[in-house]
Amino acid sequence: APAPANDQSLWEKSTLNRILKRGELRVGLEAGYMPFEMLDKKGNIIGFDVDLARLMAKTMGVKLTLVNTQWDGIIPALLTDKFDILMGGMTITAERNLQVNFADPYIVIGQSVLLNRAHEDKVTTYSQLDDPRYTIATKLGTTGDIAARRFMPRARIRSFESEAEAMIEVRSGRADAFVYDLPYNVVYAARFPDAAVHLKEPFTREPLGWAVRKGDPDFLNWLNNFLRQIRDEGVYDALYRKWFEN
Ligand code: ARG
Repeated sequence: APAPANDQSLWEKSTLNRILKRGELRVGLEAGYMPFEMLDKKGNIIGFDVDLARLMAKTMGVKLTLVNTQWDGIIPALLTDKFDILMGGMTITAERNLQVNFADPYIVIGQSVLLNRAHEDKVTTYSQLDDPRYTIATKLGTTGDIAARRFMPRARIRSFESEAEAMIEVRSGRADAFVYDLPYNVVYAARFPDAAVHLKEPFTREPLGWAVRKGDPDFLNWLNNFLRQIRDEGVYDALYRKWFEN
């Protein structure tokens, strides 16, 4: 028998359909990654990703629930349906793409270096850190950790659960530098001008994308068109300026 022209069961199972029926969009992220997601003084999660998630839920006509999840374990959480979509500034990589699908990139960033103050003017570029004298702090499970091991193979690499822990090491001198996404480093350097020196030149190119479970073309199609629409309408630009240009 010929396959049915329109496989309705695919849509029945789609995460998008389940979100609409439930009346709730559950977004996985990890607060601490400035300015994409971070805690304000009252303990609310705010940031670029949060505003995009809010806009997404509003467009779907459903309520938004944020599911704060440790980064090292955030893909397993998506795969076991702890939330519907991961909006946590995740770099699109071929390795991750074996496990999850990505919508089109919503921003492109790169890795940069936050340097212990003692090295100011002596270390001026990331490649100088490829030296056994140096200890590099990274965040577990991030592309910063991968980049440090790749570009600074001779340095000692120490991975931490959170950005904050890694930066405590840099500030105390137990680590010489932190390798992480440039937007985070920009905000950190602005907030704590005496704490570290930012080597602003990015040394990787990384598109960030929203991740969803595999086998769900309907959700992916909606996400890409939502992203295109908010770009066309100028809403994306307004949010970008709010979080990245002040
Ligand atoms: N872009 C980097 C990566 O994909 C870091 C993202 C960290 N995001 C977070 N919510 N903590 O590995």
